[in-house]
Formats: sequence, structure tokens, C-alpha cells
Amino acid sequence: MSLSSRSLAFVAELVQKRSGIVVSEDKDYLVVSRLTPIARDHGHKDVDGLVEDLRRRRNHTLETRIVEAMTTNETTFYRDVHPFRTLQTKLIPELIEARKKERTLSLWSAAASTGQEIYTLAIMLREHFSELRGWKVTLHASDLSAEVITKARTGRYAQHEVNRGLPAAMLLKYFTKDDQHWQLKQEIRSMVTFREVNLISRWPHDYPKFDLVLLRNVLIYFDEATKIDILKRLERHMAPHGILMLGAAETTMGLDETYERVLADTTSYYRLAASRQESPHGHGSRPRLQVAG
Ligand SMILES: C[S@@+](CC[C@H](N)C(=O)[O-])C[C@H]1O[C@@H](n2cnc3c(N)ncnc32)[C@H](O)[C@@H]1O
Repeated sequence: MSLSSRSLAFVAELVQKRSGIVVSEDKDYLVVSRLTPIARDHGHKDVDGLVEDLRRRRNHTLETRIVEAMTTNETTFYRDVHPFRTLQTKLIPELIEARKKERTLSLWSAAASTGQEIYTLAIMLREHFSELRGWKVTLHASDLSAEVITKARTGRYAQHEVNRGLPAAMLLKYFTKDDQHWQLKQEIRSMVTFREVNLISRWPHDYPKFDLVLLRNVLIYFDEATKIDILKRLERHMAPHGILMLGAAETTMGLDETYERVLADTTSYYRLAASRQESPHGHGSRPRLQVAG
């Protein structure tokens, strides 16, 4: 099915304005496949018809549906394995040490999709860090898309979703089987607060300074100016010793030099550069790690 270049330009402008996501000219097939079901729902034979309708009459609800349909929500439990291994063996213990006086930990999954990323963290904390009992641990998860946030809140996953990445022992311990689905237990779900947050709009003013931010596999969809803006605003939401994790294809390098990249085992993460840090252990006692060139 074809799509006129005029309709493609309309969709691209709408999606970029509302989400920051860049829809390039070669993505016409994606626009057709994602938006044809919406066009049909609205009585149009194709996406051109849907767009012509929108040109004549603005419709905020329909625009939101189009923007959400153009997001890519791919995610899994323990995605990429290595970052979570490093979190478990090194970074969470370091954060616990850094926060042992306050006894608080604040974590944010900032493009959480259907929740597997933040629930991986929640399961990890419950499973391996019993010393956090009695601490105030807040896990925030947010996404632009209301649809994925609604699904994430339910903690209900199909067999193919739990088959991807989740160790069998964790599945059996923290989920119950319900019909064809697996239901995450309330003890884990209740650890997480979900919220709709658009990274290119205002962020919640009541978010704390985070010890750990997972901003994974979302910057890739934005143009350079948007990446720079988000990374800059994120600086103010990071604790001085805070850790930022990006997706494997993403970096702060060349975008924001306030972050430094740290290599650890087979993964990497980012911290606010040393000059901006007030070490939680006192001056100069922050462990020096190998910094990539
Ligand atoms: C590929 S998923 C990444 C999920 C998870 N972080 C991971 O790495 O597995 C990208 C998510 O970013 C969300 N997203 C895209 N643009 C966004 C924006 N402007 N603000 C917040 N979330 C956005 C999408 O809705 C989607 O759920």
C-alpha cells in the first residue's frame, strides 16, 4: 500500500513535535504498517485518507494514538544481560555504600515501555539485597505511551514475554500462572510507581535526585538537539554519585561532556564527570574506574 510524500511529511512532523521521534523518509513502510489499522478503525481505506481527515479537523485523541503507534516498545527482562550483571555485582553495592547514611535509594527507568526493565531491577533488589530492608527505596518508571504504562502496571505477561530473558527460577518465584499469562506478584509490583512522562516535555517536579537512571534504547530515536536537551536536563535529576545507563547503541559522548563514560566488565555506564561530583565518601575517595578514551 502506498503513502504520499505529503502524508509522510505530515505524520513525521506530528510525531517529532509530540515525541521527539524522527520518522525519516525511508520509514514510509513503517508508517503504513503501524497506521493502517488506525485508518481502518476510522473508516478510511488507507493512511492518506486518515491524514487528509486530520488536516481538515485537528483531533488530539487521534493524534495521540498515531504518536503512540509510531513508538517502538521492544523490551525484555534482563535486556542485554551484562548491564544487569554489573548492576548486581558492582553498581548497586556501590550505591548502597554511598547512601548508607540516608538509607534511601531512588531509581528511574525513563523509557520503561511495558515494564520489564524496572521489574528486572525490582526483582534483583528483592532477591539479592536483603540489606535494603528498612530503607526507603523508590523505583520510578515512566513512558510517553499511556498504553504501555497501563500494561506495565498490570505486571501481566504472555508466555513469549517471560521466555525472553527471565531466568526460570525468578519466573517461578515471583510470578503466578494465570490462564495463558504470567502474573507478577504484588510484592514486586508494589515496589514500582508508574507515570506517563514525555521526555521532551516537563518532567515531574517531585522526582527526587536519582541514584540510578536507566535511559535505554530511546535516545536512538531522537535527533541530536533532542538528545542534548534531555541529557542536559537529566544532569539536574542525578545525585552527584548517580549512575546513568544507556542502551548499547547510545552514548553521551559528543553530546554532553558533563558525563564520563566508565567501562566495567563487558558493559559501560555514565557518571557526572569528577569535577561536578561531591563524593559521598568525602573528598577524592570515589573509586576510580577505567574511563574510556
Ligand atoms: C525500545 S523501548 C525501550 C524500553 C526499555 N528502556 C529497554 O531498553 O528495553 C523505547 C520506549 O521509549 C518510549 N518513548 C519514545 N519517545 C519517548 C518520549 N519522548 N518520552 C518518553 N518515552 C518515549 C517508547 O514509548 C518506548 O516504550
